[in-house]
Amino acid sequence: MSYIEIQNLTREYKVANDKVIALDGVSFEINEGEFVVILGSSGAGKTTLLNILGGMDKATSGNYKIGDENITSFSSKQLQNFRRNDIGFVFQFYNLIPNLTAYENVLLAEVEGGYSAKEVMEKVGLSHRMNNFPSNLSGGEQQRVSIARALVKKPKLLLCDEPTGALDSKTGSQIIELLCDMARKEGKTVIVVTHNQALAEVCDRLIRIHDGKIILNEIHSNPKKASEVQW
Ligand SMILES: Nc1ncnc2c1ncn2[C@@H]1O[C@H](COP(=O)(O)OP(=O)(O)OP(=O)(O)O)[C@@H](O)[C@H]1O
Ligand SMILES: [Mg+2]
Repeated sequence: MSYIEIQNLTREYKVANDKVIALDGVSFEINEGEFVVILGSSGAGKTTLLNILGGMDKATSGNYKIGDENITSFSSKQLQNFRRNDIGFVFQFYNLIPNLTAYENVLLAEVEGGYSAKEVMEKVGLSHRMNNFPSNLSGGEQQRVSIARALVKKPKLLLCDEPTGALDSKTGSQIIELLCDMARKEGKTVIVVTHNQALAEVCDRLIRIHDGKIILNEIHSNPKKASEVQW
C-alpha cells in the first residue's frame, strides 16, 4: 500500500480578476522510504505542490492522504501540529539563524520523541563544526546544518525545495548523496523538487510536472549515485 496518496489536487490563485491554475488535477502515490525527485521548469507548480505536502498551504480541491491520515480534512490547529511534528523542510538558501551556532540552530528544532541535536549533527557529518556560526561555514556545510535541523524531529517527510540550487556541482552532488542516505539508511521519505535535470537519474521515483500537470511518474529500480551523473 502506498504511503502518500494525492488525488486530483488543484490549487488556484486569484490575481485581480484573473485566475492562475498552479496545480491542475495532480494525482500520484509515493511509498514509504522512497527518494523522490519532482522535476519541472520555473512556474511548473513545484513550490505550490511542496507547500501543500508540508501543510503550509491548502489545495483548492482534491485529496491528500499520508498513512491513514486525511490531511485535506485537517483543521488549522491539526495542520499546525502536522507541520511542527511531521514535516522537515530544507530550502535553497538554508534559512539558518545567523546569530546562533550550527548546533544551536539544530537544538532549536529538537522535540520530544525526536533525535538529539548532537546525534543528527553526526548523521550529516558535522560533529566538528558544531560551534561555528553559519557565516563561518561553507554553503554545503550550511545546507548540512539545515538538513540536520529538518531531521531532528524525526519527521515523516523530508521536503526539499531546490536544496542544491545555491551550491556548486560537487557540493550539490554531496548534498544529494546525503539526502539519498536519509532515505536509504534512516528510512525517511524524501521529496526533492528541482529544475535540475541531473537529478532525474538519482532517485527511486521520478515525477515530472509541467504547467501544473504530472506528465511522467516512473520508478527507477536501479538509480545512479549522485557522484555518477554529470551536472
Ligand atoms: N501567491 C501566488 N499568487 C498568484 N500566483 C502564484 C502564487 N504563487 C505561485 N503562483 C503562480 O503559480 C504557478 C506555479 O508557481 P510555483 O511557485 O509553484 O512554481 P515553481 O515550479 O516552484 O517555480 P520556480 O522553479 O521558479 O520556483 C506560477 O505560474 C506562479 O506564477
Ligand atoms: Mg519554486
